[in-house]
Amino acid sequence: MIIKTTKELVASEITDISVFKRRRQIIKAALAAMVAGEFIAPAIAANNNSNWANLPKSNYADKSLTPTPAGLIKNYTNYYEFAFNKQDSTDLAKNLRTDAWSVEITGEVEKPGHYYLEDILSQQSLQEYIYRFRCVEAWSMVVPWIGFPLADLLKSVQPLSTARFVKFTSVYQPDTMPKQASNQMLEWPYVEGLRIDEAMHPLTILAVGLYGDILPNQNGAPLRLIVPWKYGFKSIKAIVKIELLKRPPITSWNSFAPNEYGFYANVNPDVAHPRWSQNSERQLGSTFFTPRRQTELFNGYGEQVASLYSEMNLRHFF
Ligand code: MTE
Repeated sequence: MIIKTTKELVASEITDISVFKRRRQIIKAALAAMVAGEFIAPAIAANNNSNWANLPKSNYADKSLTPTPAGLIKNYTNYYEFAFNKQDSTDLAKNLRTDAWSVEITGEVEKPGHYYLEDILSQQSLQEYIYRFRCVEAWSMVVPWIGFPLADLLKSVQPLSTARFVKFTSVYQPDTMPKQASNQMLEWPYVEGLRIDEAMHPLTILAVGLYGDILPNQNGAPLRLIVPWKYGFKSIKAIVKIELLKRPPITSWNSFAPNEYGFYANVNPDVAHPRWSQNSERQLGSTFFTPRRQTELFNGYGEQVASLYSEMNLRHFF
């Protein structure tokens, strides 16, 4: 297995990755202490990443949006590897192993390899991206993600001109992910995909944190995709593999429910789900008396992304 060094990634501004390094050191120290018969609670390793609290806001962050309370974002999650309800993943995902994480980048690229997340992050400038997030189930929230543009990572491995699609694969860890072991509703691991130009769009990010803190496991730690103009199921969690492809990948939800939304799954108030309208959405944190929000085309990001879907582009890719 090739583990590439930082030298092979394009140098840009350096992000403070002390939190990840500290976490690794603490895990090592905890293991050493356990061998020595002491007990160090894993919670100590959770982090103390105050240096993420005041990151610059991306130009693409909508500063006028009010983020949904952190407690709701962290405790109302969709993570089918752990649970089919919104609450249980918070506890169950505590067992997920996220240390020494690496991502394999392969396919139509000049520099394929396995890259440690720490090395990837050392080449990225983290920023805060305050985005609307719209689930296909017709609820929405506003999330202050911490991350970096996916384009910056892809450029560093030099996509070939033959790369037209990007496939993302989540971790397969059935000993910590109970539904991978017991439920075949979806094929595991979870897979998602984008067109290369969607992947390179500056709104598309890889997130490693939220609310100034490291990403909670149940929200997709340690690395997840965020595509704010698409339904949330496209924003795949716990990514371990990124493949650049000539042909569109088969994705988990498409193969499970081909009659629902296709490969694109762009938020669109006029295209109803087979069982409910997408015309409006329930905002997490709203009360019974708060009116539902009118769903916006491309989740409100049409000005930035509508041109991706011109007739010509649609014909060119499919
Ligand atoms: N990624 C993986 N690996 N497994 C999942 O079950 N659920 C998707 C998406 N990414 C999912 C996933 C769905 S349906 C949604 S709506 C969002 O994650 C939810 O993100 P959140 O739980 O952080 O709100």
